[in-house]
Amino acid sequence: MKVAIIGAGNVGGTLGAAWAKKAGHDIVFGVRDPKAEKVQALLGKIGGKAKAVTVAEAAAAADFIVLSTPWPATEAAIRSMGDLKGKVILDATNPLSRGPDGISLEIGHGISGGEKVQGWASGASVFKTLNTTGFGTMAEPVFNGVKSLMFVAGDDAANKPKVMALIGELGFDVVDAGPLRQARLLEPHALLWIDLSLARGLGRDWAFARVKR
Ligand SMILES: NC(=O)c1ccc[n+]([C@@H]2O[C@H](COP(=O)([O-])OP(=O)(O)OC[C@H]3O[C@@H](n4cnc5c(N)ncnc54)[C@H](OP(=O)(O)O)[C@@H]3O)[C@@H](O)[C@H]2O)c1
Repeated sequence: MKVAIIGAGNVGGTLGAAWAKKAGHDIVFGVRDPKAEKVQALLGKIGGKAKAVTVAEAAAAADFIVLSTPWPATEAAIRSMGDLKGKVILDATNPLSRGPDGISLEIGHGISGGEKVQGWASGASVFKTLNTTGFGTMAEPVFNGVKSLMFVAGDDAANKPKVMALIGELGFDVVDAGPLRQARLLEPHALLWIDLSLARGLGRDWAFARVKR
């Protein structure tokens, strides 16, 4: 499968490397400067499975597009993708802002970043996922034999199983969190992980998991 990843930073780079290695997917990074040294270094690390092109070229080349841009750049990144009709977008962003009390959500409860992304990405199906843990967990989601949790929220019932399978290939325990509006729950959940990790001393090397009977 060909997966486009918009943004090749902590999240995008980690996911591209993981999908290439664990599932053999062809990765096409959509970046502002495909020749940038850091982008070339990432491609060298991943090997022959990955390439870097412009954002528009990457979006056109793949049916599944992962969005891993900083929130303030996300609308512009989507606008530069071109025609998104029929594309499936996995939105890993969080609408973060930094205020006097540290990192917080710019919007929430009555609307979500995921729904904003759907509004900007006309014609595409947007799924909110890969936003509730750190990129280190995305590289290796299994902790002492226990799979960490990853939610998928989206309205497109036909494509949801494919998106869940894609997330499962990374090694996550994948849970359907319902329609896209449930991104209103997933984004605060992400902020909880961020707060516990960065402000409450848990560090980055942990994740949410579920126990069940
Ligand atoms: N870090 C985490 O552990 C984590 C976990 C879950 C979710 N998230 C979310 O995932 C997103 C990315 O986080 P990150 O830590 O990976 O950020 P990052 O390391 O700063 O990477 C962001 C990437 O986006 C690119 N970019 C910026 N503006 C762009 C534009 N207009 N068009 C295309 N690409 C653009 C940057 O490329 P340039 O080199 O060109 O600037 C860079 O490759 C954020 O929304 C964050 O909240 C992060």
